[in-house]
Amino acid sequence: MLKLNPSPIQKVEWQLASDNSISVDIKRDDLLHSIVSGNKWRKLKYLLADAKVKSSSHIMTMGGNWSNHLHAVAFAGKTLGFKTTGIVRAHPEQALTPTLKDCKRWGMELRFTTRREYAKYRKFQAWDSFHNNQPNSYWLSEGGFSELAIKGVMDIADEVDKHYDYIVVACGSGATLCGLAKAFPKTQIIGVAAFAGAEYLRDELALYVGCELENWIIDTEHHCGGFAKTNESLKAVATEIESNNNFKLDFVYNAKSFLALSTRILTGAIAPGSNVLIIHTGGLQGRRD
Ligand SMILES: Cc1ncc(COP(=O)(O)O)c(C=O)c1O
Repeated sequence: MLKLNPSPIQKVEWQLASDNSISVDIKRDDLLHSIVSGNKWRKLKYLLADAKVKSSSHIMTMGGNWSNHLHAVAFAGKTLGFKTTGIVRAHPEQALTPTLKDCKRWGMELRFTTRREYAKYRKFQAWDSFHNNQPNSYWLSEGGFSELAIKGVMDIADEVDKHYDYIVVACGSGATLCGLAKAFPKTQIIGVAAFAGAEYLRDELALYVGCELENWIIDTEHHCGGFAKTNESLKAVATEIESNNNFKLDFVYNAKSFLALSTRILTGAIAPGSNVLIIHTGGLQGRRD
């Protein structure tokens, strides 16, 4: 398996935070690996180990045109000796995005599907249900969402030795948020939804986090119009953060975490004296500027 070192935690230089006596640190999971970076490695490591234990030789999964998940799976598959197939929600005649070109270069077979067919694959939550149809294959649901992905995220706690009042993280499938809620029961976890209409996730994720834990919320107000949409406030906060720090942000996920945090600071929802950790979940492959 790929062996990665713990990611560093560093202070975020941010006038808004210091003006309000709030300390903000960032866990640089974007530095975990040059390709399988951010929450991708956290979510995939036990799943890939499980695939090996089950003697599966073929990883099958799904994602969009710019999917960080497909990108990471294609690279990890090539490195670890798995055949990989990506079910992609796009027309076969469309030009490949740079993300999909990388996937293809790393040997991933791309199968294009309609939106309707793609939605059916979303229902294949469990490996076992899929396995019957595809011998030797190992099914990873969208974004890798699974108990093993959540377990992988929980390992972040081994690398954080200070108490934080809040942890802020971008939220798609919610696996990363679940893992953090379970691993840091005394911290308030704020998952910032990257897409519109994420309210339904509250009930779904509660099943995975466990009802005894109420230390997490989903911020559904900072998707900026929907998945991969941007607006001026998002660009402004990302520009300010990037110009005062040594890291970059993707606009699909991590810039939205900072935008949501800035609103919470401005409205006083996060009190002076608080300390906050943002998890940098990677995603920079999608930003090809
Ligand atoms: C860069 C990045 N950040 C955050 C997320 C959201 O993670 P999760 O699906 O675990 O909520 C994703 C999607 O997996 C992602 O690619």
